[in-house]
Amino acid sequence: MSKTIIVANWKMNPVTWREAKKLFESTKKAVEKTKNSSVIVAPPVIFLRGLSGTYRGSRVAFAVQNGHFKTNGAHTGEISLAQSKDAHASYVIIGHVERRASGETNDDAGKKAAGALALKMIPILCVGESERTESGEQFNVVREQIRAGLADVPASALGRVILVYEPLWTIGTNTTMNPSEMHQMAIFMRKCVVETHGGGGRALKILYGGGVDGKSAEVMLREGDVCGFLVGRASLNASEFAKLLQAIENV
Ligand code: PGA
Repeated sequence: MSKTIIVANWKMNPVTWREAKKLFESTKKAVEKTKNSSVIVAPPVIFLRGLSGTYRGSRVAFAVQNGHFKTNGAHTGEISLAQSKDAHASYVIIGHVERRASGETNDDAGKKAAGALALKMIPILCVGESERTESGEQFNVVREQIRAGLADVPASALGRVILVYEPLWTIGTNTTMNPSEMHQMAIFMRKCVVETHGGGGRALKILYGGGVDGKSAEVMLREGDVCGFLVGRASLNASEFAKLLQAIENV
């Protein structure tokens, strides 16, 4: 059985290095008590090297929450994927809805995904509509985000890509999506990738993100056709995160 993938997206939290170390300690402990999850911690990049540089275990991997596809150069305020890799990030979150809201485009997402793969990093490409309407527009939005995000990803690299469906209207709320709707969306996402990249799209790893906690995770894992979660708030609270990992342990 393959492990459940959990991306602990700390977003712009916590405030201090001291708190970051403490949160990482509790995260490590929670992970060590479980066997069936593969945990990827995405701290604010300022804490990355401090955490990754002293970590000697193998159960936690590191991600950055963003990264510039160019290696280096005159890009004030940016951090490149290559620099992130040098600080031991092996994954990168791309196209998170909070970044799309501040201007990240589909085209940027595509460049980052291809750039990450070229560095042998794993892109975690996020897709999802910002509002849900009766018209089914979410399917068009997701199809276009997937098409552009994977435009320069060869079919042979699909096994090294993770897709996350995270509808904005569930993020930061206590509502997760209905698992049967997630199942339908996962089928649709695979179909989109099969259309552009061929049969390998059927084996795509798909995660769900938005309001996930221990209670909702178990049923989503059983019925939602996903192999893991991108978790925001629940990854910032030691006991919530431990509960989440325990809940999925025996699914
Ligand atoms: P949340 O964030 O778990 O706090 O809802 C999830 C996400 O950003 O996808």
